[in-house]
Formats: sequence, structure tokens, C-alpha cells
Amino acid sequence: MAKTGDATRLGTAEGALLGRAAHALHAPDPVLDDPWAVELLLPREQRSVRDAEVYRQTQAPDRSPTSRILAISLGSLRYAEDEVERCWKDGIRQYVILGAGFDTFGLRRADLDGLRVYEVDHPDVQALKRERVAAASIVPERLPEYVPVDFEATALGEALRASPFDPGERSVFSWMNTLPYLTPEATAATLAEIAGLMAPGSRLVLNYHSTAPLTDEQREFLDDLKRSVASQGEPFQSRWEPAEFESLLARNGLAIAERADDGDLSERYFAGRSDGMLPGVPASLITAERRAE
Ligand SMILES: C[S@@+](CC[C@H](N)C(=O)[O-])C[C@H]1O[C@@H](n2cnc3c(N)ncnc32)[C@H](O)[C@@H]1O
Repeated sequence: MAKTGDATRLGTAEGALLGRAAHALHAPDPVLDDPWAVELLLPREQRSVRDAEVYRQTQAPDRSPTSRILAISLGSLRYAEDEVERCWKDGIRQYVILGAGFDTFGLRRADLDGLRVYEVDHPDVQALKRERVAAASIVPERLPEYVPVDFEATALGEALRASPFDPGERSVFSWMNTLPYLTPEATAATLAEIAGLMAPGSRLVLNYHSTAPLTDEQREFLDDLKRSVASQGEPFQSRWEPAEFESLLARNGLAIAERADDGDLSERYFAGRSDGMLPGVPASLITAERRAE
């Protein structure tokens, strides 16, 4: 159940944005170079997140237990963006960001000439994001195409087909940091719709909560996180056995091109960092390709 947050708490999309903004502003060698993240926060939060002392005392990896999940979400977005760049070099010109929330790729990557970016999210969250983009102090070189969809209720295919998106042309889809918030039924139904929109040669990158074994410390941390997102009205609703998830992809004609986990993210994006930021819970990422029938 996607939420925009209220006067007392941020929704998960904005919470993730806050972490990314702090990281982009203060972390040495940020995993994502993201000047837009701070722009989409409310002025009150912008002031606090710009304060280096606040960062040092509360948000730096040695102070913030949530840095271990921020590392997964940041690393996953970077993983998706690396794949999108590869696809663009290979001639793909359509990128659909599912569960985009306050993702800023579409605002900051106008350098990928000719790439058309589609953002899909819950109508309420997307409306809030559009307000923030309009209120930002910088003007984006170009805007993504906004496609409001509630994955639990609305058909993705119908909504994307009503937009300029062309299902006959190759595309790349990302679906990061969102599946845990969806029911297994909505995940399966949406995946079937995604597959139906992917011309042969199209790619999909996503992450999901797997049933991988946890250490006691990880279980305790994830239980706290679970309680926290549930109290924000956005409970975790699914975890998948990897074999079950992969067979769902296969049933939809999607072949696995790569599997990655928290160890791969650590190696690729967090090795040798001076601030010690590291993914600290299990992560499961997949790159899949739509093969010709
Ligand atoms: C933790 S946020 C992640 C946002 C973004 N992908 C990121 O990594 O920052 C989860 C996103 O899933 C979206 N979401 C959750 N349930 C949804 C639903 N039923 N339909 C559409 N979007 C949904 C939320 O609105 C939110 O933007």
C-alpha cells in the first residue's frame, strides 16, 4: 500500500530519498552522483540534510543502523543505472522505472541522448513527486513521462499502452526496492504485464526480499525495519524462495542473464570506502531478458 506520508512521518519513497540526499551531499565518493535528491525534499528537510554536523552525528554509516539498508537500496539503483547505460549503448531508447518513487534518474540523465524515461508509481506518490519537481530550484533538462498505476489494482499494460511507450520496440525496465511492499499476487500479475510489454531483447532488472537465512543481528534489524514500515502504513508483504521467484520469471518467458547479491553490490560499489558504508542485509537482484519466442 503506497503512501505519501503525513505531517509526522515520511512515506517510504521520501524516506529513501532523504537517505540518498544525505549520502550524495556528504559521503565521500557517493555511489550515485545525485544533485537532484536534495531538491525534491521539503525546505525543512533540505536545511537539515545539508547540515554536515547533523550528518556526522546521525546519518553517517558509523551512526546510522539504517545505512546497511540504504547501501542495498543505493547499490540496487546504481546496478539498475549501470544496466540502463549498457542498454542505451546497445541502442535501447525506452526505460521504464517501476515503483519509481522519488527516483531522480529521469531528471539528471539527459546526457543519454534519445532515451525516453517512463516513471510508474502509485498515483498519490507520483502526484507528490510531480509537485516537488515543479517546486525545485533547478529546471530539469527534460521530464520523464509519468504513468500513475496502483500495482495492486490497475493494469500496468493498459496504462503504458495509453502512453507514448511502444511495446514493439526494445526497452529496459527496472523494479527496485519495491517488491517487498507488494503482495505476491500483485507481483505475479504485474510481472506478467511487464513481460507482455517487453519486445524480444528487452531487459528487466529488479530486486526482491528472498528467504535467505539471516544472522540473529540481521533478523533483529529487519524485524525493527518491518515494524517501522508497517507503522508508516506500508508493510512488507512478500518474501520469495529464489527458486519460486525464478520459475515465475521463466513462466513469463524471461531468461535470467545475471543474479547478484549483497556481496556483489559490496564488491562493485562499496569496496575500499573510507566511510565504511556496506550493504548489511541479504539482497537478491536479477537481470532478465525477454528472449524471442
Ligand atoms: C521504498 S520506495 C522505493 C522507491 C524507489 N524505487 C527508490 O528506490 O527510491 C517503494 C516504492 O514502491 C511504491 N509502491 C508501493 N506499493 C505500490 C503500489 N501498490 N502501486 C504502485 N507503487 C507502489 C511506493 O509508492 C514507493 O515509491
